[in-house]
Amino acid sequence: MSSHTPATDYVEDVSPGRGTLPPRAWYASSDAASLSLNGGWRLRVSATADAEDDSFAAPGYDAGGWAEVTVPGHWVLQGHGAPIYTNHLYPFPVDPPHVPAENPTGDHLRVFDLPGDWPAGGGAVLRFDGVESCARVWLNGTEIGEFKGSRLPHEFAVGRLLKPSGNVLAVRVHQWSAGSYLEDQDQWWLPGIFRDVALLHRPAGGAGDFFVHAAYDHVSGAGTLRVDSDVEGRVLVEELGIDVAAGEPVTRPVEPWTAETPRLYDGVLVTAGERVPVRIGFRTVVVEDGLIKVNGTPLLFKGVNRHEWHPREGRALDLATMREDVLLMKRHNVNAVRTSHYPPHPAFLDLCDAYGLWVIDECDLETHGFVEQEWRDNPVDDARWTPALLDRAARMVERDKNHPSVVMWSLGNEAGTGRGLTAMADWIHDRDPSRPVHYEGDPGCRDTDVYARMYPPHEEVERIARGLDGGTRRRRELPLILCEYAHAMGNGPGGLTEYQELFERYDRLQGGFVWEWIDHGVEHPGLGYAYGGDFGEELHDANFVCDGLVFPDRTPSPGLIEYKKVIEPVRIEAGDADGTVRVTNRYDFADLSHLEFSFSHQVDGLPTGARRLTVPPLAPGESAQVELDGAPDGGGEEVRWTVEARLAEDTPWAGKGHEVAWAQGTVSRRAPLLAAAGVRPVVDGDRITLGPAVFDARTGAPRTLVGVPVRGLRLDVWRATTDNDDGAAWQTDTRYGPLWRELGLHRMRHRVEAVGTDGEALTVRTRVAPAGRETGLRTAYRWTSDGTRVRLTVSVVPEGDWRAPLPRLGVRFGLPGATPEDAVRWFGGGNESYPDTRAASKDLLWDASVQELQTPYVRPQENGARADVRWAEIGGLRVDGEPEFWFTARPWTTEHLDAARHRTDLVPGDTVWVHLDHRLHGIGSQSCGPGPLPRYHLWPEPAEFSFVFSRPRG
Ligand code: GAL
Repeated sequence: MSSHTPATDYVEDVSPGRGTLPPRAWYASSDAASLSLNGGWRLRVSATADAEDDSFAAPGYDAGGWAEVTVPGHWVLQGHGAPIYTNHLYPFPVDPPHVPAENPTGDHLRVFDLPGDWPAGGGAVLRFDGVESCARVWLNGTEIGEFKGSRLPHEFAVGRLLKPSGNVLAVRVHQWSAGSYLEDQDQWWLPGIFRDVALLHRPAGGAGDFFVHAAYDHVSGAGTLRVDSDVEGRVLVEELGIDVAAGEPVTRPVEPWTAETPRLYDGVLVTAGERVPVRIGFRTVVVEDGLIKVNGTPLLFKGVNRHEWHPREGRALDLATMREDVLLMKRHNVNAVRTSHYPPHPAFLDLCDAYGLWVIDECDLETHGFVEQEWRDNPVDDARWTPALLDRAARMVERDKNHPSVVMWSLGNEAGTGRGLTAMADWIHDRDPSRPVHYEGDPGCRDTDVYARMYPPHEEVERIARGLDGGTRRRRELPLILCEYAHAMGNGPGGLTEYQELFERYDRLQGGFVWEWIDHGVEHPGLGYAYGGDFGEELHDANFVCDGLVFPDRTPSPGLIEYKKVIEPVRIEAGDADGTVRVTNRYDFADLSHLEFSFSHQVDGLPTGARRLTVPPLAPGESAQVELDGAPDGGGEEVRWTVEARLAEDTPWAGKGHEVAWAQGTVSRRAPLLAAAGVRPVVDGDRITLGPAVFDARTGAPRTLVGVPVRGLRLDVWRATTDNDDGAAWQTDTRYGPLWRELGLHRMRHRVEAVGTDGEALTVRTRVAPAGRETGLRTAYRWTSDGTRVRLTVSVVPEGDWRAPLPRLGVRFGLPGATPEDAVRWFGGGNESYPDTRAASKDLLWDASVQELQTPYVRPQENGARADVRWAEIGGLRVDGEPEFWFTARPWTTEHLDAARHRTDLVPGDTVWVHLDHRLHGIGSQSCGPGPLPRYHLWPEPAEFSFVFSRPRG
């Protein structure tokens, strides 16, 4: 060893590596010894692949002056260098297989002793579960090989090299390699040994690779088990009385595994030298009659795309974090995960088996950057790269083949088309005919068993459902799944309800996977969460990396609450007769016996006491009507019913009482608001007094309402554009965010034309319009009072040639001196909602502080509206609306929110700003998909709406 110019050819070699063992199933032995090599390692980072020779790998090398790094981890998140975020552009010249001379290289060193009880005989395997992007490995001074394939396991036989103590493990990790061309997923580039490193003793006669085949015959109820094993052995499943030779099939009556009923049987593979526990789930997956079926039943995926993410650790997730993801998914009615865009840590799949989630396991492959050159030189269509692709396919399939939760293999993501993909699909079909193959990038579906699409608009989904979209015959005969839809970037996604309606209406539509599970924000002391560009990247895609249903710290965003409601497995709706509801079981496999139903009536939002509702244990697809008796007389107040379905018993993923589904309906409506008139306005110098309100006589603007000072009350049409308003640059449909700015909606001028009193009313006529445009909104504010209350009626008439819908239509005003801690009470929707994200808006009596009304999107933007508000109390004011209104309150202005780039840019001012909106424009999903459906566009048209201001009742 120790040459002066170290060999670096392997870095740009398209081959998958050298010296590694053939891939095999990932398992933990019950009795073979193992030693985790996670923990503190020594680290030296150099700027290039060849800066240092390999003398560091020799025993006795003094690394005392090196830094310390934690493995698993990424050195760029531990103070050495910085992460880079790009969506699809390679952050280096596209010149395959070459990588830049600037190639951060982390030399890692770890010295370890074998435990005292480490068995003397047998061999040993050194396993790396994930290293980005290329590693060269030495043990005790001997080079044992190198590998690529970042999110895949790589093993070396090392028994002969081990010593009882003072073993030196040296790993040189390069950030860039030929492998980087195959790993162009939309995420942070994060080099490092980011998954576990372990030394596994391999006893003589120990298990090798094995393949658990556990099929279920839904007609006979029988399960057939056959465990193919490289090494002779027996398979024992005590609970089923099974004791057969490996390779022998055995059939028993069993309970099947499904994601809803994840029944596992504990078994063990016994070889001469080892016992290996296996968890067996009996299920059969087929594509038949154009449908994906498990155990004979077509599935409906209510899925999410999950990247591995932790705001401090990057893709180095611990078990608790993985479990948190699974629990959050289960608690939000999610039933499926696509492991976008690489096989996850193997422990995640164990959790999916145990808790019950359908999994599309995706290979670590994406070459999206080649789209910039019309896919020329795409590695997936270049035979020289095929061995690397096949190696990746095999490492995924062999590692994960024994998981019942994995129901489909995915070749990768956004890699165009080519012979390499076909080779992968052929190999997978041959090795594991028991699972269909998925891949989205080939519109011809040559290699796939399902038709997959990303982000199609609703109407296109419907056309596909009806077979009217053209395409090959083969494609038309396949089921459709939306492997990505509903881009959850910032506020949104909108339109989930309408997608779900389509999925439920057409058999061919087997559901989808929201993009994506989590925001990949990096915890940052000065910014809250950092995103692309915050580390000085030369090329980056800003906050496109923050597009999840949960925030970086895994707090559910309103998008997840909405999704939970839209995909709830029990449908509750008003029944045929008054006072009844219809309950429908929308599970695919489970009956409703695990749920407990209750109902209550609310008068003006206040519950009158919950009662049990007896619902039969309906089978999937069945409905029943049940009565809600005892509706109270509201005496002019609104009366509504709420039905809730909750877990009747504790489950592994949520406790008894966890809410699974709910619905509300109206029994009787509230009486119209009082006119609040009778008192005459009185002009008094520069003031006009109208009952308990005082106005500026010149501008007609209120100074106080029922004794409460108010500032700047006027029509408002602007919102701090959302990521979905701004849209993605490549969108060909009109993107309203940019158009709104072009039209000047963020800088409307308010010209007062007349302030007049006529009898009982004070009327202020204005024209609201942007500079440079003829378009405007004639706006009249008509104020009346009965002496204790003040009523405002706003009338708006648009003028001119409006080319865009409005972001919002309502009034806003400031409450000087109010603070973020001030309490708000209201009757209306409880959580953030917009016109196309309001399924989960539950009308009750709520209270929250102003601060709690803010949704902390990683990039600040319009947020926090509450739907269907009948009345709200804030800062000593009560506001009743006619009709119901959208309520928003913030400790900063919309302009401030619009200018903010990070959470920490938002600093409360001395005023709380209140928005009372008559209408809002929808949200949609245009940050990567379609905009809001036309029915959610807020086109300017004549409108009139009223508010009554009074003192709070409580
Ligand atoms: C898809 C891609 C994802 C992600 C998403 C946008 O095209 O497969 O990885 O980039 O768009 O967030």
